[in-house]
Amino acid sequence: MHRVTNRKWWKEGVVYQIYPRSFQDSTGNGIGDLRGIVERLDYIKSLGIDIIWLNPVYASPNDDNGYDIADYRGIMPEFGTMEDFDLLLAGIRERGLKLVMDLVVNHSSDEHNWFLESRKSRNSAYRDYYHWWPAEKGTPPKRWSYFDVEGDAWNYDERTDAYYLHSFSEKQPDLKWENPKVRKEVYDIMKFWFDKGVDGFRMDVISFISKDTDYPELPSEYEGDFVSFYSNGPKLHEYLHEMHTEVLDRYDVMTVGEAPGIGLDKALDFVDEDRKELNMFFHFDLMALDREEKEVFLMRKDKWKLSEFKKIHSDWDAAFAQKGWGSMFLNNHDFPRSVSRWGDDSEANWHHSATMLQTFLLTMRGTPYFYYGEEIGMTNIEFDRISEYRDINTLNRYQTLKREGGDLEAFLLNEKDASRDNARTPMQWDGSKNAGFSKQRPWLRVNGNHTNGINVASQENDPNSVLNHFRKMVHIRKQHLGLIYGSYRLLQQNNEDIYAYTRTLDRERYLVILGFTDKKSTIVLGEIEFDRADLLISNDGHRAHTGGNVFELMPYQACVYVLR
Ligand code: GLC
Repeated sequence: MHRVTNRKWWKEGVVYQIYPRSFQDSTGNGIGDLRGIVERLDYIKSLGIDIIWLNPVYASPNDDNGYDIADYRGIMPEFGTMEDFDLLLAGIRERGLKLVMDLVVNHSSDEHNWFLESRKSRNSAYRDYYHWWPAEKGTPPKRWSYFDVEGDAWNYDERTDAYYLHSFSEKQPDLKWENPKVRKEVYDIMKFWFDKGVDGFRMDVISFISKDTDYPELPSEYEGDFVSFYSNGPKLHEYLHEMHTEVLDRYDVMTVGEAPGIGLDKALDFVDEDRKELNMFFHFDLMALDREEKEVFLMRKDKWKLSEFKKIHSDWDAAFAQKGWGSMFLNNHDFPRSVSRWGDDSEANWHHSATMLQTFLLTMRGTPYFYYGEEIGMTNIEFDRISEYRDINTLNRYQTLKREGGDLEAFLLNEKDASRDNARTPMQWDGSKNAGFSKQRPWLRVNGNHTNGINVASQENDPNSVLNHFRKMVHIRKQHLGLIYGSYRLLQQNNEDIYAYTRTLDRERYLVILGFTDKKSTIVLGEIEFDRADLLISNDGHRAHTGGNVFELMPYQACVYVLR
């Protein structure tokens, strides 16, 4: 008998994230849509995943591809109608899958009715739904904004001679959570979707929602680090707890917060079950690993080290070893493709590094999140020209640099590795012109390597494909509770070629050995005892174990053993 207490479907499930704009176009306008996802539900089911997370599908002027919502209860016309949504939800249910939506409530669109009303007059009933700074008080204290060309989070609005706050683009005004009416609106929106049957929310930049409405100058301890300041608002946990009491407590749903600025020391504040806030959150430590310090969109000059990669994962595993639960991801719609970033997408190493990374995510503790296309090893597109980009983040930073007379060439080089559009290119279904994504020219260029084996159709029937390794690995995780709940022990922190660890649940014991190098490598595991290491799966026909404690790996080989 296993001693797992507190089992939960969202701990045992594998999540598959879909960026709807890029998954499947059913209407022929070059933009993915809800009916397109419906058409692909059997494929999604065939992956063995349990939970679909859908990026925003709500009505939006698309300044930031749906992260600027104009109607929280309406579907974006480009994606379809509410009938299409209901059809999708029914199809998901029929297949025994669950659906998690994106909740974007740090800010709305400036085209949301609340903001249209709020900006009309200082006496508007909706004035206090947003953060306003009256101009007669002078220039507001500096706040930094992600997508603002001038990096200024305050935008002057002539109509009422005041500034409003926008931590992201000027079309994404921050909602004022300090106003109880705003919180009630949010809770009602959540109930609306839960009552429809949705199974949870991924909460966009949830760590930013609370603000000090005296708007002080940036306190000196946050010098140069607005993100930490934003994620440390005075009432953040009060609001999350209230949300739990008012809404979450009444439903069997899952919640995962996006939490930039939250480090290990604050981790349990969000997910300690006794606090009744969230189930999981995404930290940014891994996403920052290959970036300049506090510059999340700038690639760092030297290469990241495997020992650093291990430390991040080991520290975060430890943070949730007794309480709370982690979330594991290697990429998403904001970061480049995992195989290009943490593996090696060259022809020689693409297959092994893609499958090695899948093996990693599926043998760690914490819920694994895969991003559409990761199951077939989709890679970065690496655009050459600014005209090929669609993302506001790249486009506006380019404008900023241009104004400042900065080095545009260096910027474009950086974006080849760092840009969010790398991960937003259309899903590669087959080797045809638009990769089976659309009959029309897609909104963002398809990666040319869809004709070269990186597509579903050509991998479907190849038992050794990246796709079928993914399916096998998902199945293996499901069959072995120890891979989900077992404790994690890192072996040989300082080895820069191999990541090795054990997972243990009672008498069940697994050894995972992952090659993170394009060369053959060897590890001698003196620190653990076992009689036999039985291979459970490898991404290479070649069996690594040569006997005793010595394990030899081919480049990017991944092996999972049962230890006896
Ligand atoms: C989150 C989203 C990102 C979006 C931003 C503003 O970081 O993941 O895509 O641009 O919030 O909503």
